[in-house]
Amino acid sequence: MKGHCKILVFQTYNGLVAIGSLVFFVVAMSCAFLYLFPSVPPVVNSYPVSNSSSSATDKCDVFEGRWIQDESYPLYNASECPFTEIGFNCFANGRKDGGYAKWRWKPKNCDIPRFDVRAVLEKLRGKRIVFVGDSLSRTQWESLICLLMTGVEDKKSVYEVNGKKITKQIRFLSVHFSSFDLRIDFYRSVFLVQPASVPIRSPKRVKSTLRVDKLDDISQEWIDSDILIFNSGKSLKLGMPITTGFRIALNTWSSWVETMVNTNRTSVFFRTFESSHWSGRNHNSCKVTKHPWSSSWGKDRSTISDIIIKIVKKMKVPVTILHVTPMLSFRSDGHVGTWSDNPSVPDCSHWCLPGVPDMWNEILLNLLPGNQVSLK
Ligand SMILES: *[C@@H]1O[C@H](CO)[C@@H](O)[C@H](O)[C@H]1NC(C)=O
Ligand SMILES: *[C@@H]1O[C@H](CO)[C@@H](O)[C@H](O)[C@H]1NC(C)=O
Ligand SMILES: *[C@@H]1O[C@H](CO)[C@@H](O)[C@H](O)[C@H]1NC(C)=O
Repeated sequence: MKGHCKILVFQTYNGLVAIGSLVFFVVAMSCAFLYLFPSVPPVVNSYPVSNSSSSATDKCDVFEGRWIQDESYPLYNASECPFTEIGFNCFANGRKDGGYAKWRWKPKNCDIPRFDVRAVLEKLRGKRIVFVGDSLSRTQWESLICLLMTGVEDKKSVYEVNGKKITKQIRFLSVHFSSFDLRIDFYRSVFLVQPASVPIRSPKRVKSTLRVDKLDDISQEWIDSDILIFNSGKSLKLGMPITTGFRIALNTWSSWVETMVNTNRTSVFFRTFESSHWSGRNHNSCKVTKHPWSSSWGKDRSTISDIIIKIVKKMKVPVTILHVTPMLSFRSDGHVGTWSDNPSVPDCSHWCLPGVPDMWNEILLNLLPGNQVSLK
Protein backbone atom coordinates (compact mmCIF):
# COMPACT_ATOMS: atom_id res chain seq x y z
CA MET A 1 0.00 0.00 0.00
CA LYS A 2 2.82 2.34 0.85
CA GLY A 3 4.16 1.84 -2.68
CA HIS A 4 1.23 3.73 -4.03
CA CYS A 5 2.43 7.00 -2.66
CA LYS A 6 5.13 7.33 -5.26
CA ILE A 7 2.86 8.64 -7.90
CA LEU A 8 2.92 11.65 -10.10
CA VAL A 9 -0.31 12.48 -11.82
CA PHE A 10 -0.40 14.27 -15.14
CA GLN A 11 -2.91 15.07 -17.79
CA THR A 12 -3.00 15.59 -21.51
CA TYR A 13 -4.31 18.87 -22.87
CA ASN A 14 -5.01 18.72 -26.62
CA GLY A 15 -2.29 16.19 -27.11
CA LEU A 16 0.30 18.16 -25.22
CA VAL A 17 1.47 16.32 -22.20
CA ALA A 18 1.60 18.76 -19.38
CA ILE A 19 3.66 17.00 -16.81
CA GLY A 20 2.13 17.04 -13.37
CA SER A 21 1.78 20.45 -11.96
CA LEU A 22 3.74 21.45 -8.92
CA VAL A 23 0.69 20.65 -6.84
CA PHE A 24 0.73 17.00 -7.83
CA PHE A 25 4.47 16.85 -7.33
CA VAL A 26 4.07 18.14 -3.81
CA VAL A 27 1.33 15.58 -3.31
CA ALA A 28 3.62 12.79 -4.39
CA MET A 29 6.10 13.96 -1.81
CA SER A 30 3.59 14.08 0.96
CA CYS A 31 3.60 10.40 1.77
CA ALA A 32 4.12 11.38 5.36
CA PHE A 33 0.47 12.30 5.45
CA LEU A 34 -0.44 8.85 4.29
CA TYR A 35 -3.19 8.13 6.72
CA LEU A 36 -4.20 11.60 7.75
CA PHE A 37 -7.79 11.63 6.71
CA PRO A 38 -9.69 14.84 7.15
CA SER A 39 -11.50 14.57 10.42
CA VAL A 40 -15.22 14.69 9.97
CA PRO A 41 -17.65 14.66 12.86
CA PRO A 42 -19.59 11.41 13.20
CA VAL A 43 -22.83 11.31 11.31
CA VAL A 44 -25.46 8.80 12.32
CA ASN A 45 -27.33 8.30 9.06
CA SER A 46 -25.80 7.02 5.87
CA TYR A 47 -26.13 8.85 2.57
CA PRO A 48 -29.10 8.30 0.30
CA VAL A 49 -28.22 6.04 -2.58
CA SER A 50 -28.20 7.52 -6.07
CA ASN A 51 -31.64 8.06 -7.55
CA SER A 52 -30.50 6.49 -10.78
CA SER A 53 -30.14 3.09 -9.16
CA SER A 54 -32.66 0.27 -9.29
CA SER A 55 -36.18 0.68 -8.03
CA ALA A 56 -35.45 -1.35 -4.92
CA THR A 57 -33.19 1.34 -3.58
CA ASP A 58 -35.71 4.09 -4.22
CA LYS A 59 -37.87 2.51 -1.56
CA CYS A 60 -35.21 1.35 0.81
CA ASP A 61 -31.66 2.51 1.34
CA VAL A 62 -30.05 -0.87 1.86
CA PHE A 63 -26.89 0.82 3.05
CA GLU A 64 -28.59 2.37 6.02
CA GLY A 65 -28.95 -0.18 8.77
CA ARG A 66 -27.05 -2.18 11.34
CA TRP A 67 -25.17 -5.43 11.85
CA ILE A 68 -26.96 -8.18 13.72
CA GLN A 69 -25.58 -11.45 15.00
CA ASP A 70 -26.65 -14.50 13.05
CA GLU A 71 -25.47 -17.98 13.98
CA SER A 72 -26.38 -19.33 10.54
CA TYR A 73 -23.38 -17.48 9.12
CA PRO A 74 -20.82 -17.86 7.58
CA LEU A 75 -22.22 -19.17 4.31
CA TYR A 76 -19.11 -21.16 3.30
CA ASN A 77 -15.87 -22.58 4.63
CA ALA A 78 -12.87 -20.87 3.03
CA SER A 79 -10.71 -23.98 3.46
CA GLU A 80 -13.10 -25.83 1.20
CA CYS A 81 -13.07 -23.14 -1.49
CA PRO A 82 -9.99 -23.12 -3.74
CA PHE A 83 -10.61 -19.47 -4.64
CA THR A 84 -10.04 -17.95 -1.22
CA GLU A 85 -6.43 -16.81 -1.25
CA ILE A 86 -4.52 -18.00 1.79
CA GLY A 87 -3.87 -14.42 2.94
CA PHE A 88 -7.59 -13.86 3.60
CA ASN A 89 -8.40 -17.23 5.19
CA CYS A 90 -8.01 -16.01 8.78
CA PHE A 91 -9.33 -19.25 10.29
CA ALA A 92 -6.67 -21.28 8.49
CA ASN A 93 -4.06 -18.74 9.58
CA GLY A 94 -4.86 -19.28 13.24
CA ARG A 95 -7.62 -16.86 14.12
CA LYS A 96 -9.51 -18.54 16.95
CA ASP A 97 -12.47 -16.22 17.53
CA GLY A 98 -14.97 -16.98 14.81
CA GLY A 99 -17.57 -14.40 15.82
CA TYR A 100 -16.50 -11.93 13.12
CA ALA A 101 -18.03 -14.23 10.48
CA LYS A 102 -21.41 -14.41 12.22
CA TRP A 103 -22.88 -11.01 11.46
CA ARG A 104 -25.46 -10.08 8.88
CA TRP A 105 -26.37 -6.63 7.61
CA LYS A 106 -29.94 -5.55 8.35
CA PRO A 107 -31.15 -2.51 6.39
CA LYS A 108 -33.37 -0.21 8.39
CA ASN A 109 -36.47 -0.31 6.20
CA CYS A 110 -36.23 -3.63 4.45
CA ASP A 111 -34.80 -7.13 4.62
CA ILE A 112 -32.18 -8.77 2.50
CA PRO A 113 -33.67 -12.17 1.67
CA ARG A 114 -31.79 -15.24 2.84
CA PHE A 115 -29.09 -16.21 0.33
CA ASP A 116 -30.48 -18.94 -1.93
CA VAL A 117 -27.53 -20.24 -3.91
CA ARG A 118 -29.48 -22.34 -6.41
CA ALA A 119 -31.80 -19.48 -7.30
CA VAL A 120 -28.85 -17.12 -7.69
CA LEU A 121 -26.93 -19.57 -9.88
CA GLU A 122 -29.98 -20.00 -12.12
CA LYS A 123 -30.36 -16.26 -12.41
CA LEU A 124 -26.72 -15.88 -13.36
CA ARG A 125 -26.77 -18.66 -15.94
CA GLY A 126 -24.99 -17.62 -19.15
CA LYS A 127 -23.77 -14.33 -17.67
CA ARG A 128 -20.39 -12.67 -17.44
CA ILE A 129 -19.56 -10.78 -14.25
CA VAL A 130 -16.50 -8.52 -14.20
CA PHE A 131 -14.82 -7.05 -11.13
CA VAL A 132 -12.38 -4.20 -11.76
CA GLY A 133 -10.22 -2.59 -9.11
CA ASP A 134 -7.63 -3.28 -6.45
CA SER A 135 -7.05 -6.09 -3.96
CA LEU A 136 -10.35 -5.36 -2.21
CA SER A 137 -12.06 -5.96 -5.51
CA ARG A 138 -10.23 -9.26 -5.71
CA THR A 139 -11.55 -10.10 -2.23
CA GLN A 140 -15.10 -9.49 -3.40
CA TRP A 141 -14.44 -11.61 -6.49
CA GLU A 142 -13.16 -14.49 -4.32
CA SER A 143 -16.11 -14.11 -1.96
CA LEU A 144 -18.67 -14.32 -4.77
CA ILE A 145 -17.04 -17.41 -6.26
CA CYS A 146 -16.95 -19.15 -2.86
CA LEU A 147 -20.56 -18.20 -2.11
CA LEU A 148 -21.70 -19.62 -5.45
CA MET A 149 -19.56 -22.76 -5.22
CA THR A 150 -21.63 -23.91 -2.24
CA GLY A 151 -24.37 -24.61 -4.78
CA VAL A 152 -22.19 -26.61 -7.17
CA GLU A 153 -21.82 -30.34 -6.52
CA ASP A 154 -18.92 -31.03 -8.86
CA LYS A 155 -16.30 -28.57 -7.57
CA LYS A 156 -14.01 -29.45 -10.48
CA SER A 157 -16.53 -27.92 -12.85
CA VAL A 158 -15.44 -24.52 -11.48
CA TYR A 159 -11.96 -23.53 -12.65
CA GLU A 160 -9.72 -20.64 -13.65
CA VAL A 161 -9.73 -20.76 -17.43
CA ASN A 162 -5.98 -20.25 -17.85
CA GLY A 163 -5.06 -22.37 -14.85
CA LYS A 164 -3.62 -19.30 -13.14
CA LYS A 165 -3.04 -18.95 -9.41
CA ILE A 166 -4.25 -15.98 -7.41
CA THR A 167 -1.40 -13.59 -6.62
CA LYS A 168 -1.29 -10.02 -5.39
CA GLN A 169 -0.05 -8.58 -8.68
CA ILE A 170 -2.07 -10.71 -11.08
CA ARG A 171 -3.72 -8.58 -13.76
CA PHE A 172 -6.49 -10.90 -14.91
CA LEU A 173 -8.30 -13.95 -13.58
CA SER A 174 -11.33 -15.67 -15.07
CA VAL A 175 -13.31 -18.35 -13.29
CA HIS A 176 -15.75 -20.46 -15.25
CA PHE A 177 -18.75 -22.21 -13.68
CA SER A 178 -19.05 -24.65 -16.56
CA SER A 179 -22.42 -26.19 -15.60
CA PHE A 180 -23.94 -22.72 -15.57
CA ASP A 181 -22.01 -21.15 -18.45
CA LEU A 182 -21.15 -18.41 -15.96
CA ARG A 183 -17.89 -16.46 -15.95
CA ILE A 184 -16.65 -14.37 -13.06
CA ASP A 185 -13.62 -12.27 -13.96
CA PHE A 186 -11.25 -10.01 -12.07
CA TYR A 187 -9.10 -7.27 -13.61
CA ARG A 188 -6.52 -5.56 -11.47
CA SER A 189 -6.74 -1.86 -12.25
CA VAL A 190 -5.97 -0.01 -9.06
CA PHE A 191 -6.62 3.50 -10.38
CA LEU A 192 -8.85 2.56 -13.33
CA VAL A 193 -6.91 4.99 -15.49
CA GLN A 194 -3.87 4.27 -17.60
CA PRO A 195 -0.53 3.61 -15.99
CA ALA A 196 2.18 5.59 -17.82
CA SER A 197 5.95 5.61 -18.00
CA VAL A 198 7.91 7.86 -15.66
CA PRO A 199 9.04 11.11 -17.35
CA ILE A 200 12.82 11.30 -17.79
CA ARG A 201 13.52 14.21 -15.47
CA SER A 202 11.29 13.08 -12.63
CA PRO A 203 12.69 13.02 -9.12
CA LYS A 204 13.92 9.61 -8.01
CA ARG A 205 11.03 9.13 -5.62
CA VAL A 206 8.53 9.09 -8.46
CA LYS A 207 8.17 5.41 -9.25
CA SER A 208 5.05 5.43 -11.36
CA THR A 209 2.75 7.85 -13.14
CA LEU A 210 -0.84 7.86 -14.29
CA ARG A 211 -2.63 9.37 -17.24
CA VAL A 212 -5.79 10.44 -15.47
CA ASP A 213 -7.46 11.44 -18.75
CA LYS A 214 -7.33 7.96 -20.26
CA LEU A 215 -8.94 4.79 -18.98
CA ASP A 216 -6.81 1.69 -18.44
CA ASP A 217 -5.98 0.13 -21.80
CA ILE A 218 -7.46 -3.21 -20.73
CA SER A 219 -10.85 -1.49 -20.34
CA GLN A 220 -11.84 -2.85 -23.78
CA GLU A 221 -12.11 -6.23 -22.12
CA TRP A 222 -14.63 -5.06 -19.55
CA ILE A 223 -17.32 -3.95 -21.99
CA ASP A 224 -18.78 -7.30 -22.98
CA SER A 225 -20.30 -8.07 -19.57
CA ASP A 226 -23.62 -8.35 -17.79
CA ILE A 227 -22.53 -7.10 -14.41
CA LEU A 228 -19.59 -4.73 -14.02
CA ILE A 229 -18.35 -3.81 -10.54
CA PHE A 230 -15.70 -1.16 -9.94
CA ASN A 231 -13.81 0.13 -6.98
CA SER A 232 -10.94 2.59 -6.59
CA GLY A 233 -9.78 4.86 -3.87
CA LYS A 234 -6.19 4.10 -2.98
CA SER A 235 -5.19 7.62 -3.91
CA LEU A 236 -6.93 9.02 -0.84
CA LYS A 237 -3.94 7.90 1.13
CA LEU A 238 -1.86 10.55 -0.60
CA GLY A 239 -3.60 13.30 1.31
CA MET A 240 -6.10 15.94 0.31
CA PRO A 241 -4.74 17.46 -2.91
CA ILE A 242 -4.64 14.11 -4.68
CA THR A 243 -8.42 14.07 -4.52
CA THR A 244 -8.16 16.40 -7.52
CA GLY A 245 -6.41 13.62 -9.40
CA PHE A 246 -9.00 11.11 -8.22
CA ARG A 247 -11.84 13.37 -9.35
CA ILE A 248 -10.36 13.72 -12.84
CA ALA A 249 -9.74 9.98 -13.07
CA LEU A 250 -13.30 9.26 -12.00
CA ASN A 251 -14.68 11.70 -14.57
CA THR A 252 -12.64 9.86 -17.18
CA TRP A 253 -14.23 6.64 -15.94
CA SER A 254 -17.75 8.10 -16.02
CA SER A 255 -17.38 9.33 -19.62
CA TRP A 256 -16.07 5.92 -20.56
CA VAL A 257 -19.10 4.18 -19.04
CA GLU A 258 -21.46 6.64 -20.75
CA THR A 259 -19.95 6.14 -24.18
CA MET A 260 -18.68 2.56 -24.16
CA VAL A 261 -21.01 0.51 -21.97
CA ASN A 262 -24.47 -0.54 -23.10
CA THR A 263 -26.27 -0.13 -19.80
CA ASN A 264 -29.38 -1.73 -21.30
CA ARG A 265 -27.44 -4.95 -20.98
CA THR A 266 -24.78 -4.27 -18.37
CA SER A 267 -25.59 -3.41 -14.77
CA VAL A 268 -22.82 -1.11 -13.57
CA PHE A 269 -21.84 -0.79 -9.91
CA PHE A 270 -19.26 1.33 -8.12
CA ARG A 271 -18.24 0.45 -4.59
CA THR A 272 -17.34 3.35 -2.33
CA PHE A 273 -14.36 3.63 -0.02
CA GLU A 274 -13.81 0.60 2.20
CA SER A 275 -13.29 1.99 5.71
CA SER A 276 -10.10 0.70 7.29
CA HIS A 277 -9.31 0.57 11.00
CA TRP A 278 -5.72 1.63 11.41
CA SER A 279 -5.01 3.27 14.71
CA GLY A 280 -2.22 5.01 16.53
CA ARG A 281 -0.52 8.29 15.82
CA ASN A 282 0.84 7.29 12.44
CA HIS A 283 -2.19 5.21 11.53
CA ASN A 284 0.01 2.16 11.29
CA SER A 285 -1.12 -0.01 14.18
CA CYS A 286 -3.87 -2.51 13.77
CA LYS A 287 -6.01 -3.69 16.64
CA VAL A 288 -8.56 -6.17 15.37
CA THR A 289 -11.42 -6.38 17.87
CA LYS A 290 -13.54 -9.42 18.75
CA HIS A 291 -16.79 -7.59 18.15
CA PRO A 292 -17.77 -4.77 15.82
CA TRP A 293 -17.41 -1.26 17.16
CA SER A 294 -20.62 0.09 18.62
CA SER A 295 -19.90 3.48 17.05
CA SER A 296 -18.56 4.36 13.64
CA TRP A 297 -16.21 6.96 15.14
CA GLY A 298 -16.60 9.14 12.09
CA LYS A 299 -15.35 6.45 9.72
CA ASP A 300 -18.73 6.36 8.00
CA ARG A 301 -17.70 9.44 6.02
CA SER A 302 -14.98 9.58 3.41
CA THR A 303 -13.91 12.26 0.95
CA ILE A 304 -13.36 9.59 -1.68
CA SER A 305 -16.90 8.27 -1.23
CA ASP A 306 -18.32 11.80 -1.45
CA ILE A 307 -16.54 12.30 -4.78
CA ILE A 308 -17.80 8.97 -6.11
CA ILE A 309 -21.40 9.71 -5.09
CA LYS A 310 -21.32 13.18 -6.60
CA ILE A 311 -19.89 12.04 -9.93
CA VAL A 312 -22.17 9.02 -10.27
CA LYS A 313 -25.26 11.12 -9.55
CA LYS A 314 -24.40 13.38 -12.49
CA MET A 315 -24.06 10.51 -14.94
CA LYS A 316 -26.42 10.13 -17.89
CA VAL A 317 -26.68 6.35 -17.51
CA PRO A 318 -27.73 4.27 -14.50
CA VAL A 319 -24.91 3.25 -12.19
CA THR A 320 -25.60 1.82 -8.74
CA ILE A 321 -23.42 2.93 -5.88
CA LEU A 322 -22.50 0.20 -3.43
CA HIS A 323 -22.12 2.60 -0.56
CA VAL A 324 -20.31 0.32 1.84
CA THR A 325 -18.40 3.03 3.74
CA PRO A 326 -20.94 3.41 6.58
CA MET A 327 -21.56 -0.32 7.05
CA LEU A 328 -17.84 -1.06 7.12
CA SER A 329 -17.07 1.67 9.62
CA PHE A 330 -18.29 -0.56 12.48
CA ARG A 331 -16.42 -3.68 11.41
CA SER A 332 -13.14 -3.26 13.29
CA ASP A 333 -13.45 -7.00 13.98
CA GLY A 334 -13.51 -8.15 10.38
CA HIS A 335 -9.94 -7.37 9.30
CA VAL A 336 -7.18 -9.79 8.49
CA GLY A 337 -4.90 -8.33 11.18
CA THR A 338 -1.99 -10.73 11.69
CA TRP A 339 -3.92 -13.79 10.45
CA SER A 340 -2.61 -13.47 6.91
CA ASP A 341 0.11 -15.15 4.87
CA ASN A 342 2.53 -12.59 6.31
CA PRO A 343 1.79 -12.17 10.03
CA SER A 344 4.70 -9.77 10.51
CA VAL A 345 2.78 -7.09 8.60
CA PRO A 346 -0.54 -6.37 10.32
CA ASP A 347 -3.39 -5.54 8.00
CA CYS A 348 -6.31 -3.35 8.98
CA SER A 349 -7.46 -2.73 5.39
CA HIS A 350 -8.25 -6.18 4.03
CA TRP A 351 -11.00 -8.45 5.36
CA CYS A 352 -11.16 -12.07 6.41
CA LEU A 353 -13.01 -14.55 4.21
CA PRO A 354 -15.62 -15.64 4.95
CA GLY A 355 -16.65 -12.36 6.45
CA VAL A 356 -17.60 -8.80 5.65
CA PRO A 357 -17.16 -8.88 1.81
CA ASP A 358 -19.74 -11.69 1.58
CA MET A 359 -22.35 -9.11 2.54
CA TRP A 360 -21.27 -6.80 -0.31
CA ASN A 361 -22.14 -9.68 -2.63
CA GLU A 362 -25.45 -10.48 -0.99
CA ILE A 363 -26.42 -6.84 -1.42
CA LEU A 364 -25.07 -6.70 -4.99
CA LEU A 365 -27.11 -9.75 -5.99
CA ASN A 366 -30.23 -8.16 -4.55
CA LEU A 367 -29.71 -4.94 -6.46
CA LEU A 368 -29.68 -6.65 -9.85
CA PRO A 369 -32.53 -5.79 -12.21
CA GLY A 370 -35.66 -7.80 -11.59
CA ASN A 371 -34.88 -8.22 -7.91
CA GLN A 372 -36.72 -6.48 -5.17
CA VAL A 373 -35.34 -6.16 -1.71
CA SER A 374 -38.32 -7.36 0.28
CA LEU A 375 -39.94 -4.54 2.18
CA LYS A 376 -41.07 -4.85 5.75
C1 LIG B 1 -34.79 11.22 -5.62
O1 LIG B 1 -35.93 11.42 -6.41
C2 LIG B 1 -37.06 11.87 -5.68
C3 LIG B 1 -38.28 11.96 -6.62
O2 LIG B 1 -38.00 11.38 -7.86
C4 LIG B 1 -36.74 13.21 -5.04
O3 LIG B 1 -37.85 13.65 -4.29
C5 LIG B 1 -35.54 13.07 -4.14
O4 LIG B 1 -35.17 14.32 -3.61
C6 LIG B 1 -34.37 12.50 -4.91
N1 LIG B 1 -33.30 12.22 -3.99
C7 LIG B 1 -32.05 12.55 -4.25
C8 LIG B 1 -31.09 12.21 -3.18
O5 LIG B 1 -31.69 13.10 -5.27
C1 LIG C 1 -13.46 -25.91 7.32
O1 LIG C 1 -13.04 -27.08 6.69
C2 LIG C 1 -11.81 -27.59 7.16
C3 LIG C 1 -11.35 -28.69 6.24
O2 LIG C 1 -12.42 -29.46 5.78
C4 LIG C 1 -12.01 -28.02 8.60
O3 LIG C 1 -10.80 -28.54 9.14
C5 LIG C 1 -12.43 -26.81 9.42
O4 LIG C 1 -12.73 -27.17 10.75
C6 LIG C 1 -13.64 -26.14 8.81
N1 LIG C 1 -13.80 -24.84 9.45
C7 LIG C 1 -14.89 -24.49 10.07
C8 LIG C 1 -14.89 -23.13 10.67
O5 LIG C 1 -15.87 -25.20 10.13
C1 LIG D 1 -31.33 1.21 -24.65
O1 LIG D 1 -32.73 1.27 -24.46
C2 LIG D 1 -33.30 2.50 -24.79
C3 LIG D 1 -34.75 2.48 -24.41
O2 LIG D 1 -35.34 1.26 -24.69
C4 LIG D 1 -33.09 2.78 -26.28
O3 LIG D 1 -33.62 4.02 -26.61
C5 LIG D 1 -31.58 2.79 -26.56
O4 LIG D 1 -31.35 2.93 -27.94
C6 LIG D 1 -30.95 1.50 -26.08
N1 LIG D 1 -29.51 1.62 -26.22
C7 LIG D 1 -28.76 0.69 -26.77
C8 LIG D 1 -27.30 0.97 -26.85
O5 LIG D 1 -29.21 -0.37 -27.17
